Amino acid sequence: MIKKPDILKNRAYINGMWVSAESGKVFSVVNPANGQKLADVPDMGKEDTEKAIEAAFLAFPVWRSKTAKDRSKILKIWHSLVLDHCDDLAALLTAEQGKPLTEAKAEILYGASFIEWYAEEAKRIYGDIIPTHKEDARVLVTREPIGVVGAITPWNFPHAMITRKIAPALAAGCTVVLKPAEDTPLSALALAELAQQAGFPPGVINIVTGAADSAAEIGLVLTTHEKVRKISFTGSTEIGSLLMKQSAGTIKKISLELGGNAPFIVFESADLERAAEGAIICKFRNAGQTCVCANRIYAQDSIYEEFAVKLAQRIKALKVGAGDQEWVQIGPLINGQGLEKVKMHVQDALEKGGKLVCGGKNHDAGALFYTPTLIRDMNAEMLLNQEETFGPVAGLFRFGSEEDVIRAANDTPYGLASYFYSKDLGQVFRVAEALEYGMVAVNEPVLSGESIPFGGIKQSGIGREGSHYGIEEFTEMKYVLLGGL
Ligand code: SIN
Repeated sequence: MIKKPDILKNRAYINGMWVSAESGKVFSVVNPANGQKLADVPDMGKEDTEKAIEAAFLAFPVWRSKTAKDRSKILKIWHSLVLDHCDDLAALLTAEQGKPLTEAKAEILYGASFIEWYAEEAKRIYGDIIPTHKEDARVLVTREPIGVVGAITPWNFPHAMITRKIAPALAAGCTVVLKPAEDTPLSALALAELAQQAGFPPGVINIVTGAADSAAEIGLVLTTHEKVRKISFTGSTEIGSLLMKQSAGTIKKISLELGGNAPFIVFESADLERAAEGAIICKFRNAGQTCVCANRIYAQDSIYEEFAVKLAQRIKALKVGAGDQEWVQIGPLINGQGLEKVKMHVQDALEKGGKLVCGGKNHDAGALFYTPTLIRDMNAEMLLNQEETFGPVAGLFRFGSEEDVIRAANDTPYGLASYFYSKDLGQVFRVAEALEYGMVAVNEPVLSGESIPFGGIKQSGIGREGSHYGIEEFTEMKYVLLGGL
């Protein structure tokens, strides 16, 4: 299956070496499609994390003192190596995460695009010369790399969420200690192998792997260690809030990309075919396991019935199975906990008056598969309205006026992504401005890309990833006053 087995690693990566845990402990990585073990990897803890931080700390002066052009060259080599290994990286990603192969390939290219983008941005971290406030002085502002970065990444995009964080960090001159999600460490280790081949000096990138039970310990070391200057995390709001509290003691700079509860609004003026197609892509990508996927789908009264039919037709046609089969559109959920949450949301919605249109049960493709589901007549009391489902379940709400739907859409502590479909130009501007979200997509179901500022407001996070803004998260501003001139 994997043609270039150099990317298959089962040890962690610290200071340029492939290492086991100090304790000798390991944990198993399994394929969620069939429960088969893929590898045992080190179950690390406090000591291993401290070693990785020391290595990153020692490597920092070496890496930051390279010219931006030299850092850029290494990033570019890494980028081409990722592209050369695209099929293998995608196969590995599907094996450990479950998403269909076509989506896995798209993720590898998406992830690689951050490396390429930041290889270019490395050379454009400009400062400023500000008109002086003293006659015999001049004012300079520079941007310097912040130092050692602790990055904690999720399982739903085990490749792209790493490159979206560490490519800008490395481009800026920072060094990194990365803790990948316990469900999907193999994609992270594969990226480290390619980074080693690309020529990153030892200690610049370090990967600490750990089982679910060790995550809290590793996270605590990263967030409380004085030598770590920045934490970048993608995951739940609950864990993000904990990491933020822990980071407070050493006043670290933080970026958090947390949970969402995206509204997807279809107004009566919308192109309903386009909106239904969009809803499927937005809701069911990665089996509904994305922070930006539509969670609450709202359709206006006058088009509700017609839209419900279009949605149901498409949902019933989705093909479920193990992601390594070319025809599959919906893979398994990541683990038993994920599946339980989906089942709980469905049961709760049905108990509170929702009507099941299709799905609503496990799928016979395997233990972690769930049948793509549509529930209509949703209401605000339901769990699905309040928190992200992270599964292949579409809940369809009805609304009357523009004001009503904006109120409902904003009635959540989250503020990551939002979507709406309308052909009324005035409405497009009004609604885009009224939605309290970091990202708004109009007549489009996917808003991600390397050149856009990805991130949320309210309890969905702090900071932005991607785009030229993303690199600022890894720099500090320095003001220099040149006096006595
Ligand atoms: C996410 O779900 O966290 C990321 C999705 C994306 O980058 O498109």
